[in-house]
Amino acid sequence: MCGIVGYIGKKDALPILLDGLRRLEYRGYDSAGVLVLGKSANLAKVAGRVDDLEKEIAKKDFSGNIGIAHTRWATHGKPNKANAHPHTGCNKNFYIVHNGIIENYKELKQELQKNGHKFSSQTDSEVFAHLIEEEFKRYHNFEAAFKNAIARVRGAYGVLAVCKDDKEKILIARKSSPIVIGVGKDEYIIASDISAILGRTNNIIYISDDEIAVCENNEIRISNFKNEAIGKKVHKVDLSYKQAEKGNFDTFMKKEIFEAPEVIKNAIRGRIVQEEGTVKFGGLDDAQEKLKETKRIIIVACGTSYYAGLLAKYWFEELACMHTDVELASEFKTRNVVLGKNDLVVAISQSGETADTLGAVLEAKRKGALTLGIVNVVGSSIARETDIGIYNRAGPEISVASTKAFISQATVLLLLAIFFARKNTMGQDKGREIISEIENLYAKVGQVLGQQKQIENIAKKYSKYKSFMYLGRKYNFPIASEGALKLKEISYIHAEGYAGGELKHGPLALIDKNFPSFCVATKGSAYDKMLSNIEEIKARNGKVIAIATQGDKKIVKFADDVVYIPKSSEIISPILSVVVFQLFAYFVAKYLKKDIDKPRNLAKSVTVE
Ligand code: AGP
Ligand code: GLU
Repeated sequence: MCGIVGYIGKKDALPILLDGLRRLEYRGYDSAGVLVLGKSANLAKVAGRVDDLEKEIAKKDFSGNIGIAHTRWATHGKPNKANAHPHTGCNKNFYIVHNGIIENYKELKQELQKNGHKFSSQTDSEVFAHLIEEEFKRYHNFEAAFKNAIARVRGAYGVLAVCKDDKEKILIARKSSPIVIGVGKDEYIIASDISAILGRTNNIIYISDDEIAVCENNEIRISNFKNEAIGKKVHKVDLSYKQAEKGNFDTFMKKEIFEAPEVIKNAIRGRIVQEEGTVKFGGLDDAQEKLKETKRIIIVACGTSYYAGLLAKYWFEELACMHTDVELASEFKTRNVVLGKNDLVVAISQSGETADTLGAVLEAKRKGALTLGIVNVVGSSIARETDIGIYNRAGPEISVASTKAFISQATVLLLLAIFFARKNTMGQDKGREIISEIENLYAKVGQVLGQQKQIENIAKKYSKYKSFMYLGRKYNFPIASEGALKLKEISYIHAEGYAGGELKHGPLALIDKNFPSFCVATKGSAYDKMLSNIEEIKARNGKVIAIATQGDKKIVKFADDVVYIPKSSEIISPILSVVVFQLFAYFVAKYLKKDIDKPRNLAKSVTVE
């Protein structure tokens, strides 16, 4: 689920592998390891950071032109040195790195143990190495042994294997866990994420599920399990590693929060038809006829992307009068969701690799629904699996806590709501009115960002509390949930996101002087009811921070602290309030000295179910 890097070429492999691992650090991991095949097999592993791995290696000779490296996010077995990858078999001839989960590893392990194999880790991944070794006894050929080993494995994998006695090739297989190959001059860099490759080459080959690739010096061969050769296009990727650097910011999270205005501009660029008060998306052109027939939208996503979907439900219903359901992707794919002929399944995913969301897309396709992906990472699995799609163009999001991607998803979804609304019920004037609001949105977000000092002060003041309630109504209910998620993720403070109307149905019992609430009380149809919520909280001695609309003097009589956002229509206000929540979470975590970009236990893209 975390990071894989492989190198074969004419250069020294080690610096390229370590640099690749560093670029993947943002994904979150608990241990790291590297193997370089030179005169012998040089292996180093640590339960810790890539820096620790480098220190460990400093004492040894790691020269060689072929190697594999890994950052592990433990699923099976503790995050210790023995469980870190690469793993090898009994003869120490085959080495593998693996992302994902092998579901039938127990059966395989038992069988291998019966045949005399001794295991040195608790991981599911180690069976790969022993299986290759076992199959090699039969086929006496590395490639054949690898293919037969892969054929026996069930589950999710991105796997790279090398052989000490056959130093000319890296073997690669993929199922539900991303692998890309960078094609350089006389070299291949293989990785689980394109950011490990950018800067070295922009020529990329995407490996699909159930494909096996062989990277040899100057040659790459890709085939399926039936041994049929697969021709692959080399894609020129228009991204630079610079975009994934921190610049003057102390963390990627802060940098990404401050990219919000840019992200909004990129999301709307070329998509607005102002004179017609409508919106166009290049990626939907091929399905215009089918989209006209759409009666129901089912959004599938996880985490922050799910909350973007929940927000979109309000827009699709309100603006386009369309029946909209929002489903946690993990639940969607396990339930028997009944899909109709004219249903459109919209998958939202920053990474485009989230296993649950990908699974939901595949399930929707199986049931015959049209699928639309709203994805940030170009060429990712969900982008490729969905029938039609819209890219976020938000640039690489490195921090585990998603911020700019949410802003981008919300902007794209609002445009999509207008797209459908103008086909259904909305007139040209209303379309123009909302579009001009969207066009001004980036400047208003800029004003919210301008209040960082004040938000920082409030964050300091409240960082001593152990629990928070986040409340919002209507468009700002999903934002309250997203705000609570941000605080939980990076500061490890307990936070609950609730619809204001639900407070009295249970959570009010939690409120006392030690349980503050963050309430979105911006001007609009929910304003008065939010003031009532604040009064309910104050009556129980709870502290209240309110997000309010500029110029609202009344609110200061209710709340203990207020952050103002610029005046806007109610429809657009959630995109402004969420920025306050993002900054608040960031400053609380900073004040508590947490590892903001790499929160404990979390990974950037969750490629296991
Ligand atoms: C966001 O801050 C989280 N780290 C997480 O909830 C994330 O949004 C979720 O895992 C979905 O990821 P995706 O958008 O890449 O599919
Ligand atoms: N399941 C494997 C392990 O626990 C791989 C984890 C990963 O994807 O990092 O070692």
